[in-house]
Amino acid sequence: MSKIIAVAGKGGVGKSTFSALVIKTIIRKTNDIILAVDADSNSTLAQMLGIDVESTIGDLREDLMKDPEGVPSAISKFEYVQYQLRLALAEGERFDLVTMGRPEGPGCYCYINNILRTYMDALTDKYAYIVIDNEAGMEHLSRRTTRTMDKFFIITDFTPIGFETAVRIHELAMGMDIKINDIYLVINRIPQESQTHQKILDLKESFPHIFFIPPDDELVNYAFDGRSILELPDDSKAVKAINEICKNAELM
Ligand SMILES: Nc1ncnc2c1ncn2[C@@H]1O[C@H](COP(=O)(O)OP(=O)(O)O)[C@@H](O)[C@H]1O
Ligand SMILES: [Mg+2]
Repeated sequence: MSKIIAVAGKGGVGKSTFSALVIKTIIRKTNDIILAVDADSNSTLAQMLGIDVESTIGDLREDLMKDPEGVPSAISKFEYVQYQLRLALAEGERFDLVTMGRPEGPGCYCYINNILRTYMDALTDKYAYIVIDNEAGMEHLSRRTTRTMDKFFIITDFTPIGFETAVRIHELAMGMDIKINDIYLVINRIPQESQTHQKILDLKESFPHIFFIPPDDELVNYAFDGRSILELPDDSKAVKAINEICKNAELM
């Protein structure tokens, strides 16, 4: 059974950065192969992981909606979709990445979504770890058939709106038909002296486990240069914080 790690939070709080650095930690500490899922329509995980994406699930879905007869006649639609989906799987050295891409437009996507779900379920069984980088609405999670989440990280920055969104995502997750084993709040880009702020103590009611990541200038520079953050040195502040979080959350 693969261990499913999901990451959610408001736009710009550091979800993709966190997902990429969790992947970096798993690569470091295990010999396992990871499946990374970029389920945010604002897809940036590939760039952070330093790989190219040729097509997304969203592109495939739209192509099939536009031209349902575009399937070569010798193969079934199911086989065709499977083949296209394999093409949408980008390979890194120790991980594969699937990018969900743009959200659904209007129309009935039931058929294609059913195929996608069957395929994704079969695919996910092959990996020891699955890291899902979600958008705030968690559309992708609510549609999964795999109804257990091992670790759920809600990321926020040190802002009231980030905190409010984190609480809302927590409620949303509780209302979904998904079993979540452990939920953690991660406050990103927070200076050490702010970690005992009253607002954070208030959050303890909803989140018994709260982790912190300090601001990291090295990370900012890597992002600016478009470099893969998998290459960040082990002594970078963010890498050290995420190693510690993975250890405390017993990820591996
Ligand atoms: N701890 C941190 N210190 C400094 N910059 C950070 C930190 N975490 C994230 N960032 C930067 O913040 C920006 C948004 O992060 P990102 O992971 O893309 O957010 P999200 O995926 O939630 O939209 C990126 O430019 C990233 O480099
Ligand atoms: Mg992102």
